Amino acid sequence: MKILQDTALTYDDVLLVPQYSNVDSRRVLSTKSWLTKKIALHSPIVSANMDVVTESEMAITMAREGGIGIIHRFMTIAEQTRQIERVKKAESFIVDRPITMTDQHTVGDVKRIVEETDTGGILIVDKDEKLIGIITTRDLLFEEDDSRPVTAIMSREIHSAPPNTSLKDAERLLHEYRVEKLPLVDKNGKITGLVTLKDIMKITKFPKATKDSKGRLAVGAAVGVRDKEMRRVEAALQAGADCIVVDIAHGDSNLEIDMIKNIRKHFSDAQIIGGNVATADGTKRLIDAGVDSVKVGVGPGSICITRQVAGSGVPQLTAVIQCADAARDSGIPIIADGGIRFPGDVAKAVAAGAQTVMIGSMLAGTDESPGMILTRRGHRYKASRGMASLAANIERNKREGNDLTREEVEDYVAEGVEAAVPYRGKAREVLNQLVGGLQSGMSYSGAQSVEDFQKKAIFVRMTGAGLRESGPHDVEVLG
Ligand code: XMP
Repeated sequence: MKILQDTALTYDDVLLVPQYSNVDSRRVLSTKSWLTKKIALHSPIVSANMDVVTESEMAITMAREGGIGIIHRFMTIAEQTRQIERVKKAESFIVDRPITMTDQHTVGDVKRIVEETDTGGILIVDKDEKLIGIITTRDLLFEEDDSRPVTAIMSREIHSAPPNTSLKDAERLLHEYRVEKLPLVDKNGKITGLVTLKDIMKITKFPKATKDSKGRLAVGAAVGVRDKEMRRVEAALQAGADCIVVDIAHGDSNLEIDMIKNIRKHFSDAQIIGGNVATADGTKRLIDAGVDSVKVGVGPGSICITRQVAGSGVPQLTAVIQCADAARDSGIPIIADGGIRFPGDVAKAVAAGAQTVMIGSMLAGTDESPGMILTRRGHRYKASRGMASLAANIERNKREGNDLTREEVEDYVAEGVEAAVPYRGKAREVLNQLVGGLQSGMSYSGAQSVEDFQKKAIFVRMTGAGLRESGPHDVEVLG
């Protein structure tokens, strides 16, 4: 038995000491940081791989806002693949398989398809699948005779571009031709894709977006550590996942390390995130096994009871500081996972050495998380729960065709709880608060960048009285 004498601290135990600053505007401070050695984020926020937090809708918003979402693993491989593909398709400026109709169809047929698919234009092809015309909603607007052939109203003057047209060229051509749709056509007149003005405008609306090398939104996928999970890794990478999170509660373990080595062996280019750990030694072991990023946090999460059940864990600020110190020489970034309650906690986590911060329950309360809004006594909530809670375990087994027996339910030792979190509106608003808090924290430390912040930050410890003084006090908070 050994007792470590240093007191371990968490976010509420400290404050960042204000320092001289020559930052004129906090909102323009760059928060660019690294998720892995190769993936940069403009907003260093990661949505947790929890079934109440990240599926495709959350991942799309996260990536558009400059962060990233990790699709959880509590679903079939096929379903996880679909979720990843949905993110990958969300913002591609090329529609791969645009809807086509033939010269044999009528105006009524086109109207029906336009309504059913909510598309603004249909490409018309001949029997050899060559593009011969285009119909837009404007062409259909005042057309009353549904029995007329499409060839009577379609526009035959088609402006098209070659299959490998770049985003820049597509923008230029749409402008030059004054059209909203640009079919991509090969040498034989066959359609290979479609560029629409609407899709291009969506892209330019999110300048901070996290993208892969093909210009698609970035997304991560969580996997477990059992041998059969290698199939999940392969499917996720094939679907375009940008990183793989090897997700277990006690990441400083042979199971985790074997899985990391296995992934590295079979997919040498994969960006692998390992975790969770809470010590310097654990961090080093994962780095030696070949990870590109280490996820830190044992028991700090809002829905975790690991520390109560197992008596194990390290208060999160100390865990982040020690793990970041251990990783520094290798250049492998740290993700501070769990326990973020206020935007200022993001600033503290990053100042302590984390490159990014993973968020669970704060995002579980938003529109983009899976699940419905519940109303109780006039207040709105959404569900959150630990992935090691009893309910999550029962549901997971059910999905795998395993109905747990009464004994199995009774014997299960849960390390997470089921909970409700206040409804928080759009994920974007939560992210703005978190990133805004980080920028403010940087500014109070006189820092111009994340790197600068980590060098300059000075923490001061505080007592319970200091903590009380730090929140609203002696007033009735109205909003
Ligand atoms: P927050 O505080 O953001 O934390 O809600 C999210 C993180 O909590 C972890 N997590 C768990 N930890 N038992 C645990 O001990 C659980 O059942 C559980 N479920 C999630 C996870 O690291 C997540 O990112």
